Amino acid sequence: MIIGVPKEVKTEEYRVGAPPMAVEVLTKAGHQVLVQTTAGEGSGFADEEYIKVGATIVKSAEELYDRAEMIYQVKEPIPSEYPLLKKDQIHFRYLHLAAEEKLTHVLMDKGVIAIAFETVELPDGSTPLLNPMSEVAGILATQVAACYLWRTHQGCGKLLGGVTGVPPATVAILGGGIVGTNAAKMALGLGAHVIIIDKDVSRLSYLSDILHGRFETLASNPRTIANAIREADVVIGAVLVKGGRAPILITEDMVKTMKPGSVIIDVAIDQGGCVETSHPTSHSDPIYIVDDVIHYCVTNMPGIVPRTSTIALSNATLPYALKLANLGFREAIGSDEPLRKGLNVFGGKVTNRFVAESLGLEYTPF
Ligand SMILES: NC(=O)c1ccc[n+]([C@@H]2O[C@H](COP(=O)([O-])OP(=O)(O)OC[C@H]3O[C@@H](n4cnc5c(N)ncnc54)[C@H](O)[C@@H]3O)[C@@H](O)[C@H]2O)c1
Repeated sequence: MIIGVPKEVKTEEYRVGAPPMAVEVLTKAGHQVLVQTTAGEGSGFADEEYIKVGATIVKSAEELYDRAEMIYQVKEPIPSEYPLLKKDQIHFRYLHLAAEEKLTHVLMDKGVIAIAFETVELPDGSTPLLNPMSEVAGILATQVAACYLWRTHQGCGKLLGGVTGVPPATVAILGGGIVGTNAAKMALGLGAHVIIIDKDVSRLSYLSDILHGRFETLASNPRTIANAIREADVVIGAVLVKGGRAPILITEDMVKTMKPGSVIIDVAIDQGGCVETSHPTSHSDPIYIVDDVIHYCVTNMPGIVPRTSTIALSNATLPYALKLANLGFREAIGSDEPLRKGLNVFGGKVTNRFVAESLGLEYTPF
């Protein structure tokens, strides 16, 4: 198969769909891989590294899209890429179509085969192509919070872990899933006092078994959340309701009760955010302040560490990309239930029930 790895065009997106180590696996399996020149630069991979593993460097996105049978990229197509999409071309990338009506119609009209990373789903309901980025975002959430507590960043001036004779800061984490667990591991490692709040008590019990350090678990309800955030120096919003908008768990009135110079990292902002005072921000202007509380609401946190994020994402996506290339679309989708769940648009129809329902379009099973 001819596989194309374009340069990402979304603002401040430095990841790339396939690093050289992934391209090597594809070329060794007999596939031709076209890489757009400088596609890997943002993640620290030079064209020469791609050439060494058998890739062909192409000068433009136009040439790459024209020749490739499968586009293997990170982010969803943006309007400047729409004219490049081709009938029966496989697109394997994040798509987020439930929130992208225009793009969904473009994919349908163009007859593209659209497989979304985020809806590939294992039998236990987990989403293996989302998890690596949640892991990165969770770790970053604590690292970022530790810096925004600095006085020079308008924070309250506490060291997350405290020192001998001085107590640590308190980190309250809403949602003990992948983001929350990784945020907690990092906070505990730095010596913070951690509170994890989740509505799923069996998840809290699991976390009690695997995590060690100064932490408490709380069942989620408005009272426990209000009490925890009043005490907290850092609040990390990490809840997810599959397929839906994040629930607002922290109201504006609750934010008013927080300590001046405390920090909210609303990681769930990509699903609308779980704090009433949150709105999306970007890496170039990541914070704003409401009621003396710093709000950090960057929607693509992993983009700030593209080297790690590119490799972590490709570790997860590559087996599926290889299967699509080796078997071809029909056999790969037919033999792999998780991958079939990733199929969002095929033959001009929406093949994912949730996307169809969200957009009021007809659902047509593959
Ligand atoms: N901003 C970014 O760059 C970025 C990156 C990765 C993930 N995310 C987002 O982070 C969020 C968490 O992702 P995840 O992979 O950890 O999800 P997950 O499904 O692994 O975990 C979500 C947790 O939230 C809990 N939860 C749901 N409703 C709750 C409630 N009312 N009270 C308390 N807990 C509740 C669930 O029980 C679950 O344990 C998602 O919104 C995801 O989209 C954002």
